[in-house]
Amino acid sequence: MAEEFARSRLAVGLMSGTSLDAVDAALVRLAGSSDKPRVRLVAFTSVRYSLGVRKRILHVASGEAIPAREISQLNFLLGELFAEAALRVCRKARISPHRLSVIGSHGQTVFHQGFATLEAGRKISSTLQIAEPAVIAERIRAPVVANFRTRDIASGGQGAPLVPLVDYLLFKDRSKGTVTLNLGGIANVTVIPAGAGPEEVLGFDTGPGNMVMDALARRFTHGRKDYDSGGRLAAQGKVLEERLSDALRFPFFREAPPKSAGREQFGDEFIKRYFFSGRKRESAQDLLRTANELTARTVAEALRNFVWPRASIGRLIVSGGGAHNRLLLKKISELMPELDVDLSDAFGIPVDAKEAIAFAILADRTLQGLPGNLPAVTGARRAAVLGSIHPR
Ligand SMILES: Nc1ncnc2c1ncn2[C@@H]1O[C@H](COP(=O)(O)OP(=O)(O)OP(=O)(O)O)[C@@H](O)[C@H]1O
Ligand SMILES: [Mg+2]
Repeated sequence: MAEEFARSRLAVGLMSGTSLDAVDAALVRLAGSSDKPRVRLVAFTSVRYSLGVRKRILHVASGEAIPAREISQLNFLLGELFAEAALRVCRKARISPHRLSVIGSHGQTVFHQGFATLEAGRKISSTLQIAEPAVIAERIRAPVVANFRTRDIASGGQGAPLVPLVDYLLFKDRSKGTVTLNLGGIANVTVIPAGAGPEEVLGFDTGPGNMVMDALARRFTHGRKDYDSGGRLAAQGKVLEERLSDALRFPFFREAPPKSAGREQFGDEFIKRYFFSGRKRESAQDLLRTANELTARTVAEALRNFVWPRASIGRLIVSGGGAHNRLLLKKISELMPELDVDLSDAFGIPVDAKEAIAFAILADRTLQGLPGNLPAVTGARRAAVLGSIHPR
């Protein structure tokens, strides 16, 4: 017991995903072995992006031509915001930041291309997460690990998803096949067959999580609300069957994994095409209900088409902000009655903190010289130690 305690360490994970809602900070105490880490959440906080910052990120990530000045300034500005989130979570826990053994910062993705294109005769894939780690290290005076995805890409992988290794370490089970489902802007799953080794884990994006619903909610409330809280508006509407079946024919859903998605697939264009085409006058409630149904159906169909034929699964563990959407959760459970559906809270991992916790664990692995990717999931040539390290 004493030995384990002596070896336990405090780490912070910082994460902001495709929803562009907030920087999430999780302060955890880590112990246990590299094979079976034990993690206890000490404190969690979210620092929301202001509307102005959110707009600037959306603009830089839009694919338009952006002056280098804007990317450079935004990188350092986000560094300050990520550092603030780390400081706040320490303050909340009344823990001096100097006691942290590491901070793992995912940064904010502004570009991600997991497949190669020819650039000056060479095959190049690339990814860019911003929120300057040097700023975080300087403000907190703790070692910072960042840029996790680049090493996987350099090793021939798609750079994503990375959370499946953490899911594997935390939720693997000898007798129960498990799927973890994260409902962020995009919905993604990690499949861990009973008794599986790391090479048998599968991880991929199923399609929209909250992204389509959020866009509709913002539009209908003229920006007053960022999402449909609890799915309450959607619950007052009915599914628009024709729109739903059109949207379900979007080619991404039929592609076999590995596959990943983002705003490129499920951003404004998708919404225009499937939710606002034609001249019909439809209610906000009906459109939101249809978007809610689209997420539930595409998650269930992805599992049915691509997972059930390969593995027997008994339980689904749900996390991410979308786990607060009661209508969505109810629908997902109904569509897969054969599964025990739980929130990650039941395993000591609060739904909102899960992704941030994952990057605390990945950073800790980096400092220990342990790999952070699963080649079977990302397609990398090897399991690599991820990230760039910024010393204390
Ligand atoms: N009470 C709630 N009811 C319904 N939806 C909610 C609620 N709270 C949060 N959400 C949804 O969760 C989203 C934020 O989720 P989260 O932070 O997990 O996603 P993310 O930032 O895209 O992260 P990642 O890409 O890492 O999964 C919000 O945009 C919103 O759609
Ligand atoms: Mg978020």
